[in-house]
Amino acid sequence: MKRAVYPGSFDPVTKGHLDIIERAANLADELIVGVLNNNEKTPLFSVEERVKMLVDVTAHIPNVRVEAFSGLSVEFCKKCDASFLVRGLRAVTDFEYELQMAQTNRSLDRDVDTLFLTTALNYAYISSTIVKEVAFYGGDISGFVPPQIKERVYAKIDAFRAAQNGI
Ligand code: PNS
Repeated sequence: MKRAVYPGSFDPVTKGHLDIIERAANLADELIVGVLNNNEKTPLFSVEERVKMLVDVTAHIPNVRVEAFSGLSVEFCKKCDASFLVRGLRAVTDFEYELQMAQTNRSLDRDVDTLFLTTALNYAYISSTIVKEVAFYGGDISGFVPPQIKERVYAKIDAFRAAQNGI
């Protein structure tokens, strides 16, 4: 059984993430999407909401499971009995950080390798940060997130704005 872990913040999941999940699920017997619970930056969505969104958008992929995790990715990988981590590479700007992370992870645990998948060209510019920014200013995010996610982002941003304004 070859298990892989795809760790990330997924705040929220984008079409680029889903593309990586679909392709990684073809390479492993089981893919576990790990949703980080101890982000330094405060996420827009709670970890439960991020897990739920991922469960909904991956419902069509039988060998994908979604779990929240805290702490190190390599520890989560070990706990899942997975043999490799998956990360998406969008552009050269991702490379330095991803290389550093992969090398750190390998020095923490020599049994854990990182497999990089290049993001599909049509999703290369999409990030969760861009999605939130566009949605915040009322732009159309339907090209960036799976259909089930779009209204949840607008609703969350409305709630965030209302809280900021003390409404
Ligand atoms: O989607 P993101 O925010 O780019 O994902 C980053 C993530 C969650 C993969 C990374 O921050 C991570 O692995 N965090 C867990 C802590 C850890 O293992 N750090 C060591 C690697 S530098």
